[in-house]
Amino acid sequence: MTESEWQTRKQRIDARLRSMSPPWKIVRYRDGLDCAALDCHAVEELPTATGPADYGIFVNGLLLGIMLAALGIGAILWAKWLMPEEELVQERHDEVQPGEPEEQIMTGATLLSGVNDTGLPRRSLLVRTLGLAGGAVATVPLVALVGALLKKPGKILFHTLYRPDSKYPNGIPIVYSDGRRVSPNDIEAGGLATVFPGVPGGVKDASSPTLLIRLRPGQGTLVKARKGQSSWGWEDYLAFSKICTHAGCPASLYEQQTTRLLCPCHQSQFEVLKDAKPVFGPATRSLPKLKLAVEVVDGVQYFVAPQDFQEPIGPGFWERG
Ligand code: FES
Repeated sequence: MTESEWQTRKQRIDARLRSMSPPWKIVRYRDGLDCAALDCHAVEELPTATGPADYGIFVNGLLLGIMLAALGIGAILWAKWLMPEEELVQERHDEVQPGEPEEQIMTGATLLSGVNDTGLPRRSLLVRTLGLAGGAVATVPLVALVGALLKKPGKILFHTLYRPDSKYPNGIPIVYSDGRRVSPNDIEAGGLATVFPGVPGGVKDASSPTLLIRLRPGQGTLVKARKGQSSWGWEDYLAFSKICTHAGCPASLYEQQTTRLLCPCHQSQFEVLKDAKPVFGPATRSLPKLKLAVEVVDGVQYFVAPQDFQEPIGPGFWERG
């Protein structure tokens, strides 16, 4: 739809000017028009240097502006193009009345869908599920029966292979992983070695790994042993379980200058001079200390353990028990 300039001016702009408060008067320009006397007037076809303007706007005798109706016409036409006037109606489906075939079909489909969602039609799956549940229930007495046949662990978890044995009257020999006996002369000051009880299965047993640490000269006097354990070292040597009391990793990193043992798993640190007391990280319990002694065989000194660890090894059984 097109609108002429004349229509726009008369029907839109003039009407708008007249509807203002106070209403504006619209006059056509003529020779001799006293513009200084005009107030709230719009002068049509006002002469300007570039030709007649659509409107000259006068307030208190002053020309406040020039209005070009063509701009307004352009804006109106653009708006019309953006928002077409025709109305579009989307038809709705006819309403389905109760009892009509469509309504019956839809109701039936809804019910079937609900039944399908319950899984009841999948009979084979249902039967298998029930069978599985029945089997699980049936295993309960079986587990109880098998459990009754198992032997209780008794005191076995309270000991390691360092426990005294009459075959070794001076104490359990302390050996390297290859079975060689450990002599005090083997380890340099500030060094350490992983050692084991020298009995059958001693190297492979999970609770066996032990850290034998030789302190640097002068560090031995700084040791603050726990109550009753001050005589458990031998000269500059101390021995602790290698199994971290936090989660059972091997705490095998030793900083000889700070005398700290580090567990790489969660960064727990144990102060060796304080009998491996935890000083950093998640571990809360000291590494168990092993009492050391020496026996002489063929003129050579070898380490022995005269008694078992007196504390639980690692966290597992003890944390649960
Ligand atoms: S196992 Fe040693 S810090 Fe966690």
